Amino acid sequence: MKIIFSLFLVFLISSFNLYSPQVVANDALQWPRIFSAIDVDPNLERRIASLLSEMTLKEKVGQIIQPEIKNVSPAEVTKYHLGSVLSAGGSYPAKRHSDIITWVAAANQFYQASIKHPNKRTAIPIIWGVDAVHGHNNVVGATIFPHNIGLGATRNSNLIRAIGEVTAREVSVTGLNWAFAPTVAVARNQRWGRTYESYSENPELVAQLAGAMVVGLQGHPSRGDLFADDKVIATAKHFIGDGGTTNGIDQGDTELDEKALRDLHVQGYVAALDAGAQTVMASFNSWNGNKLHGNHYLLTHVLKEQMGFDGFVIGDWNGHEQVEGCSAQSCSQAINAGVDMIMVPDDWRAFYKNTLRQVKKGEISTARLNDAVSRILRVKLRAGLFTETGNPLKNAFSGRAQIIGHPKHRAIARQAVRESIVLLKNNDSLLPLSPTSRILVTGAGADNLVMQSGGWTVTWQGDNTSNVDFPGATSILHGIKSAISHSTGVVDYHSQGEYKVKPDVAIVVFGEQAYAEAKGDIEDLFFKTDDFKILERLYRDGIPTVSILLSGRPLFVTEQINRSTAFIAAWLPGSEGQGIADVIFTDDSAGIAYDFQGKISFSWPKSADQAPHNLGDNNYQPLFPYGYGLNYTDQTNLPWFVEQ
Ligand code: GLC
Repeated sequence: MKIIFSLFLVFLISSFNLYSPQVVANDALQWPRIFSAIDVDPNLERRIASLLSEMTLKEKVGQIIQPEIKNVSPAEVTKYHLGSVLSAGGSYPAKRHSDIITWVAAANQFYQASIKHPNKRTAIPIIWGVDAVHGHNNVVGATIFPHNIGLGATRNSNLIRAIGEVTAREVSVTGLNWAFAPTVAVARNQRWGRTYESYSENPELVAQLAGAMVVGLQGHPSRGDLFADDKVIATAKHFIGDGGTTNGIDQGDTELDEKALRDLHVQGYVAALDAGAQTVMASFNSWNGNKLHGNHYLLTHVLKEQMGFDGFVIGDWNGHEQVEGCSAQSCSQAINAGVDMIMVPDDWRAFYKNTLRQVKKGEISTARLNDAVSRILRVKLRAGLFTETGNPLKNAFSGRAQIIGHPKHRAIARQAVRESIVLLKNNDSLLPLSPTSRILVTGAGADNLVMQSGGWTVTWQGDNTSNVDFPGATSILHGIKSAISHSTGVVDYHSQGEYKVKPDVAIVVFGEQAYAEAKGDIEDLFFKTDDFKILERLYRDGIPTVSILLSGRPLFVTEQINRSTAFIAAWLPGSEGQGIADVIFTDDSAGIAYDFQGKISFSWPKSADQAPHNLGDNNYQPLFPYGYGLNYTDQTNLPWFVEQ
């Protein structure tokens, strides 16, 4: 009786799709085919088959496990044949200020442990992943670039490629070989705490810049530098729909039909994978109630079968445990759905044991395990890790500490700051300023490298840090002082904006405190800081004022804009704060040294609840539209805006 009922139930489910939302997806909908810059190599495929045929089951299971470096020893890498380790945001091989030698020594220890194997032929080198999302931001002294929201405002693909090149080089110096970047999210609701990791609300701009970043990070066959010693494996993340969740809730539900999901959120992947990105990170979010880490339709049918991705899918930080029926220690569903390597930072030993058992029981098929391992081997072989390149001590760049934060790298970051800042208002053509002026500088962000850099900088949240954690960096104040140092100007800095001698102009730098991921989720876009009182007082005193906003997103700051003569959106510029002074001051001959070039890549809200509000929406009425940005030829005087 029971069997008959079960068969009836199966019939019911299959005929009415009662079970999983994704099976109602419209199979007729074609997702874009990718044409990777990295071709299939028959010799390499034969090598994969040969390696696979010699690997034991335990070696295969070990290859798909990725612990966090704090929770694994080199001896365990050998014992469990682990395929990868990661250092998460704010994780270092030793204490916070791990020097380069310490990084390289740790990389070498993990590498030697991974190839320590009786059968040399199946000694598979380890890969070490790190969130180098705006420079090698786990490393103190590294060049820190503007976060992606600022890079989006530059629209400069060549610059983004150069940033990728510098980032990959500084990662290589530490002996690592994998960056969990670029994020190719299309952030559609600025309440999302990860908006600043997105280039734009516009999928086409995301695609333009994502491809450039991948070429910078990995190199490209046409440039003859693919996986050179100063290149790393790139990751397009987080697949798919991370920036489209309802109310911008981090790890929330992206409620879209399949066509909208494709058209809004896939373009960055097409560009990144066409450029040759070899890994994709699965996303925490759900699609119509179904967690991505368990979504076979999207991870396998769409990404691998329809689009043709032949690298490997890495899970996000215990993302598998959010799949129905899973835990951090066990999740055959994620592996069967198409996650090829599981990021299981802590409970990896239990996960290893459970997965081994699940394969033996047939809960995970041998074919699926072999496919996952083959994909990992393919990426490691393509990246040259089986050659000397894979050995941190043999890499031409590892250990060369002088490359970290090199002046040439900082010059590129300074250019990125110049090109990313957006001039929203410049009444009475207050800017550019003369270096002969008396300038009052104030605001929480004026001399604050932490606020200037945002999350994912030295620590995960960008918290518990201070200017001392940024050797070689320059604050906005420092840049302003440098800009007038060779002239007759005077800079008075006062944290509360007080002055004895009336200044010609005031510069107020304020903004968001650093945050990352869900910690940055907000209910609405209303923003006010204590610095607002300073702005109000300066306005009452009739002092022309330049406001500089440091933020991970456009915010409702109409009150501050109204009381500013000039207003700059500086986003999260990173270590080279002097890039701002380069633009807002004239040069020695009172000419324009650098004009504003930045154009907002996200619509700017005119009310605190105007989110989501994107280009193309019906009744599109932002305060400043997508693509807005003034320069010194504009003589626009903005009116007093209606305040909510
Ligand atoms: C985080 C992020 C992801 C990052 C990973 C490893 O939760 O979602 O972007 O790469 O964990 O730090």
